[in-house]
Amino acid sequence: MGELVDKRILLGLTGGIAAYKAADLARGLIKEGADVQVVMTEAACKFVAPLTLQALTGKPVFTSMWDDRIGNGMPHIELSRDRDLIVVAPATADFIAKLVHGAADDLLATLCIARKSRLMIAPAMNRQMWENPATQRNIRQLRDDGIFMEGPGSGDQACGENGMGRMSEPAQIVESIISWFQPKLLAGARIIVTAGPTYEPIDAVRGITNLSSGRMGYAVARAALESGADVTLISGRTSLVPPSSATLIPVVTAREMHDQVMSHVADTDIFISVAAVADYRVKNRDEHKKKKTDAGLKLEFTENPDILESVAASENAPFCVGFAAESRDLETYAHEKRLRKNIPLLAANLVQDALNSHENELILIDDEGMHRLARSPKLDQARGLIRHITKLYKPSRKPVTAR
Ligand code: C5P
Repeated sequence: MGELVDKRILLGLTGGIAAYKAADLARGLIKEGADVQVVMTEAACKFVAPLTLQALTGKPVFTSMWDDRIGNGMPHIELSRDRDLIVVAPATADFIAKLVHGAADDLLATLCIARKSRLMIAPAMNRQMWENPATQRNIRQLRDDGIFMEGPGSGDQACGENGMGRMSEPAQIVESIISWFQPKLLAGARIIVTAGPTYEPIDAVRGITNLSSGRMGYAVARAALESGADVTLISGRTSLVPPSSATLIPVVTAREMHDQVMSHVADTDIFISVAAVADYRVKNRDEHKKKKTDAGLKLEFTENPDILESVAASENAPFCVGFAAESRDLETYAHEKRLRKNIPLLAANLVQDALNSHENELILIDDEGMHRLARSPKLDQARGLIRHITKLYKPSRKPVTAR
């Protein structure tokens, strides 16, 4: 089912070359089930025909304050009421300046100032225009006014230059809108998520690690942010871009991860341990590169601390969630692991289902038994996990100490 069913979105287009991408954006929103009403500025109509957007949305496109198709002659009031969100994409430098000053000299600007709903903009302009101090000042002002910003990104521009100012891709804007609508079930909760693999050095250039892309952990961090939580992501080495509003603490070894988690745990309400932590580290680790000898190589291992167990056993322990990745007998091992680690909730998956995949199939195990999530993208699984946590987690405000 679409993620935006029952959501009423007003999509505004202003006059930039990225307006052609707004047609794709309208399609993406409709595909997710949204009701989309398009409004275009006069300049936007120079770049794409209103008919294109009309055909895609199946609704008349409005462009003028003086449109008499709206019964009471007040399209700025009529169109902005009962909308859940106004999205302006692309938002030009000129339109951004208008928003800052509350100008109301065309239909779209007037709608924005008359709105009751939230406003999201996707800026799009040449890099010099984006970097101009006036634009940067305006962007800061809009952020202070509570206007949500998607992008811009960096890359090739229609003018032939390369830099910041490209409008975010339509799929990215749709994703942001979906995130934005997620219920804020964990508003204010402080959550630590561990993610990715740890790496245990053998010598200066070699080491042992676990296979883990970090995707599941990063998706959990993102779903936690979407639900209104304050998220600290303690991550082993991955090639992923962390969600921008998480506090990222990069680590390499299991002991580093352990120390970082333990130094933050007193101020944590929920701990979600997704990382693939190496159970052992090399005892006879060499600072320099080991040389090949006829005697071969013997490594000795010593056990790493179990981070999840340490957190669960700590005084005033946060609500703890573990992960179990198994290659066989998933349910048996997972039940046993939850009891051994003494945690209220464990998410189990088969490594064959999760590794090298953007999808997963979690089984959530709690005191009540097992809850299966149907196979879906990792972000969906993460949202399912967060929803389940909100059913079990009872907030008990811990004192705040300096982080
Ligand atoms: O015991 P096992 O490694 O299978 O348990 C998996 C769970 O325990 C995961 O949540 C993982 O993040 C956590 N873990 C840990 N510290 C370790 C090993 C695993 O926190 N040293």
